[in-house]
Amino acid sequence: MAKLIIVSNRLPVKLQENDGELSYKTSEGGLATGLGSIYKQGDNLWIGWPGLVVTNQEKQERIAEDIKAESMSPVFLTDTEIKEFYEGFSNETLWPTFHYFSQYAIYDQQLWETYVRVNQKYCDAVVAKAGPEDTIWVHDYQLLLLPSMLREKLPDATIGFFQHIPFPSYEVFRLLPWRKELLEGMLGSDLVGFHTYDDMRHFLSSVNRLVGYGSTHGWISTPNRSLLVDSFPMGIDYEKYAGTAALEEVKKRERLYRSNLNANKIILSIDRLDYSKGIAQRLKAFELFLERHPEFHEKVTLLMLVVPSRDAVEKYKELKEEVDELVGRINGKYSHISWNPIQYFYRSYPLETLSAFYRMADVALVTPMRDGMNLVCKEYVASKLDQKGVLILSEMAGASKELSDAILINPNDINQMVDALYQALVMPEEEQIQHMRNMQESLRRYNIHHWVSMFMDRLSYVKIKQLSLATT
Ligand code: G6P
Repeated sequence: MAKLIIVSNRLPVKLQENDGELSYKTSEGGLATGLGSIYKQGDNLWIGWPGLVVTNQEKQERIAEDIKAESMSPVFLTDTEIKEFYEGFSNETLWPTFHYFSQYAIYDQQLWETYVRVNQKYCDAVVAKAGPEDTIWVHDYQLLLLPSMLREKLPDATIGFFQHIPFPSYEVFRLLPWRKELLEGMLGSDLVGFHTYDDMRHFLSSVNRLVGYGSTHGWISTPNRSLLVDSFPMGIDYEKYAGTAALEEVKKRERLYRSNLNANKIILSIDRLDYSKGIAQRLKAFELFLERHPEFHEKVTLLMLVVPSRDAVEKYKELKEEVDELVGRINGKYSHISWNPIQYFYRSYPLETLSAFYRMADVALVTPMRDGMNLVCKEYVASKLDQKGVLILSEMAGASKELSDAILINPNDINQMVDALYQALVMPEEEQIQHMRNMQESLRRYNIHHWVSMFMDRLSYVKIKQLSLATT
């Protein structure tokens, strides 16, 4: 029987080791929950890195055995591969370039060579498990070369690729020394998916100008085969967030946190620590808001959660220092004995705590400089059971294309952010409810399950269409 193999840099669990004891922490990420019900069915499988460097062969075998029962298969990466493939080429070359931070990008031949080698390693791991009739779904920028590598070994396999981060305009993408190889890697797929129409358009334009293949309605014809490029905006597991927000335990937590915070209005900010998220710009906007609106002193608190991420990468270390400094400066300037304008937490939190934060937030301030989709804003909306609350959202997040009921801002426009904060804090309840209701209706419908089935259906359609194109 044909099976589905999902491949992503990380597995949906994170391996941890304490005093030689191995344990597995399940990921709460959008992709892991979305595909959770699928990869465990039948012979389906998820292939990826378990999140920890393990060099001992015996231990590797034990891990492979442990997770086999959960339909997962590990790819082990060495310390050098983590440095050069993950931190290096993926997160110091591709990530900044794709998020329009080219000035942060490093172009280094050795990092590139390791990227090629590690993509080959993932390819070998998939080929060891896949048959010619299987469907393989590859995820994200760490594995851009994998579709073509797989195509070479399994010419008839069904291969889908989805990119979770933006695809930049040709003018930015062309700066990469390995631009052509990267595109050719992706073109091994039958279906290439992006979150937005603009990402798709940028990709098609780069393919046209750098590889020379034109396209019609998203179909690219290469000399051997045709493939489709399309947009699939990713949703969330709506019922999971709405359901968690309805739990008694979560309501209790909300009451407790609220009574501990000495403010009647709460603005929430949650991100991984990343320069693409605009955390520093957001803090500066909040500082200017406090300066311009003294009437909100002691009345408003910015609850800022920053989740540690990629902390071995230089730019992330620098950002951590900048954020620490800004929070210190603003709190130092405005705090009172009984009020801190910013409550700042640098750690990750379990779903129930996040849910209580979403419930209690009067405003969610989601202002990335650039974001493929952004799921935090969707989780906030799904958690607002009483429909009271306002979302301020960056135009640069893929989600802004769907959530036109949010207050949309340009994160480079500090005055606009200050005005949006004021507007959000004084918005009449009926207006809040109206906007929230509209957003909830759409997110409930276009949820993660819808996203998975749209992609999978389109992938099967492409295979059928290719057959008919081959016979005409
Ligand atoms: C983004 C990327 C994912 C990545 C995640 C966490 O959402 O699109 O591919 O897994 O960030 O980053 P990390 O580097 O910890 O895997």
